Amino acid sequence: MNALSNRLTELLGIEHPIIQEGMGPYKTNSIAAAVSNAGGLGTVSMPGMTKEPGRGSELLRDNIASVASLTDRPFAVNVPVGRDGSGVVLPVSEAYIRAVIEARRSDSAIERQLVALTTSAGFPGEFRDMIRDAGLIHMHKVGSTRHALKAQEQGVDVVIASGYEMGGHTHASPVHTFVLVPNVTEAVSVPVVLSGGARDGRTLAAALALGASGVAMGTRFIASSDNTDWHPAYARKIVDAREGDDVVFPAVYGPARGLRNAGVERLLEIVRTNEMTDAELIRWKDDGLIRAQETGDVDNGIMAAGQVSSGIHEVIDIADFVPTMAAEAAEILRRLAGAVSPAPVS
Ligand SMILES: Cc1cc2nc3c(=O)[nH]c(=O)nc-3n(C[C@H](O)[C@H](O)[C@H](O)COP(=O)(O)O)c2cc1C
Repeated sequence: MNALSNRLTELLGIEHPIIQEGMGPYKTNSIAAAVSNAGGLGTVSMPGMTKEPGRGSELLRDNIASVASLTDRPFAVNVPVGRDGSGVVLPVSEAYIRAVIEARRSDSAIERQLVALTTSAGFPGEFRDMIRDAGLIHMHKVGSTRHALKAQEQGVDVVIASGYEMGGHTHASPVHTFVLVPNVTEAVSVPVVLSGGARDGRTLAAALALGASGVAMGTRFIASSDNTDWHPAYARKIVDAREGDDVVFPAVYGPARGLRNAGVERLLEIVRTNEMTDAELIRWKDDGLIRAQETGDVDNGIMAAGQVSSGIHEVIDIADFVPTMAAEAAEILRRLAGAVSPAPVS
């Protein structure tokens, strides 16, 4: 048994309580497979919220098949759940959920490995039974205790509590990780995963001390040598970032966090001057995100990344990083337990 085995690792069938979260619209196939191979849980990301649903689900199925060919360990898929003005789940979100279920149904190897669906943004209440009946572990990401309680009431298996410092889409109401996670672990009984700002063994030990069962990270894994999906210039920018280099900007559904550059300055100007329609702006942003990832245009593209970038100083090898992070956390917890004098006998 691994030193940090707990109900989360047992539920997901992984060695270390370390998750790589979805980072759509970017492709995360290489990172997901590397994290799963290293004993954590990798996540396939959704290919974009502006995709035509048929084309989007085809791409998602390809990415699932690609990750399944690169690892024989468990992995997850992330689907952000958007809703239209009348509250109906967007066709593209529905298509992605159905694509995940179909991928499992049509291939027994994928069925064995694709163990979890992580939903984010909105809660897919109308698909909850379908997700459970498909045999998926349902994890849902929240930014508030109210949403954690609602997710638990609706029957999720795991709550991911993500603080405002997270990279990518963050929350409209800014509750930071250190406040949010203990609030959520106090409120719900299902396993909680800390997300937003985690980067090493110390942050994993802190997550466990706050009552979480593990951590989920995005930004940390981008700066990795296993990452063949991102242009190396993107990882370099994360490694070079300092405190204060991150910025929150308006994204598809609410605010998102990234690194400040000419691309984001231009985005803020477009929003200020109202010079594009909503649809044009969404496409402009998606193009900027993809350009930064694929061509390394880190000046004029849009770079989603978390505040934790300021604490990331090197490009990691995931195969080594994941078990080392878990071992460091275990060592810190042992050391701290040893540093406390025994409770007085009354
Ligand atoms: C580049 C990037 C893209 C992201 N895209 C998504 C996404 O498609 N869906 C989602 O639920 N979260 C997305 N996120 C958030 C991550 O899943 C995760 O919650 C976050 O990165 C955790 O905080 P950290 O960056 O401090 O590790 C994204 C984050 C980054 C950095």
